[in-house]
Amino acid sequence: MARAMSNMEYFRQFIKDKNVASLFPTSQFAVKRAFKNINLNGYKVIVEYGPGEGAFTRRMLNEMAPDATLIAIETNEEMVKVLNEINDKRLIVVKDSAENIKGILKQNGFDNADCVVSGIPFTFLKRHQRENIVKRTREALNGHGMFIVYQNSYYAVKYLEKEFDHIARDFEPRNIPPLFIMRCTI
Ligand SMILES: C[S@@+](CC[C@H](N)C(=O)[O-])C[C@H]1O[C@@H](n2cnc3c(N)ncnc32)[C@H](O)[C@@H]1O
Repeated sequence: MARAMSNMEYFRQFIKDKNVASLFPTSQFAVKRAFKNINLNGYKVIVEYGPGEGAFTRRMLNEMAPDATLIAIETNEEMVKVLNEINDKRLIVVKDSAENIKGILKQNGFDNADCVVSGIPFTFLKRHQRENIVKRTREALNGHGMFIVYQNSYYAVKYLEKEFDHIARDFEPRNIPPLFIMRCTI
């Protein structure tokens, strides 16, 4: 699936909306690294926080099972428009905040998720928002679920370890800026 937003348009969103928080979409090197040793085909319900223009979304749709669902939760209106152009019946795009994951799952007929992938900028959030998102994500995941977080540092670990027992760290230098990946399980 081709990219739908140019780097220039993405950069414009970065200027207009501080929550976009990155100059460019994540590189495919980093997307590939985030899903290293993960069988996306084995998940039935995946949730993505902050999909942006869809760098992770497109890869997940390529690798997901035909009967799986991907719920993409995004706050930026222009990103939502671009995501809505992806023609795939497995994708549900919701313009909302990640904090509302539990209600969003319920509205779409699901009790929980198998995997949540997050690109939202933790450092830009208020402390209570960070804590709410991590706690609600853990509650929304099934017992074997995984929370994959990618950021510009490992800063989020101190919040993630309050709710998750195991956090595997990974790093992709071939991204601007380099990407820090945390895979969390209960
Ligand atoms: C660093 S960008 C990542 C974009 C894309 N996933 C990528 O890797 O190229 C962060 C994205 O999170 C979105 N975002 C920020 N806060 C959010 C929130 N509370 N809930 C959902 N999306 C949010 C922003 O609008 C932006 O699209």
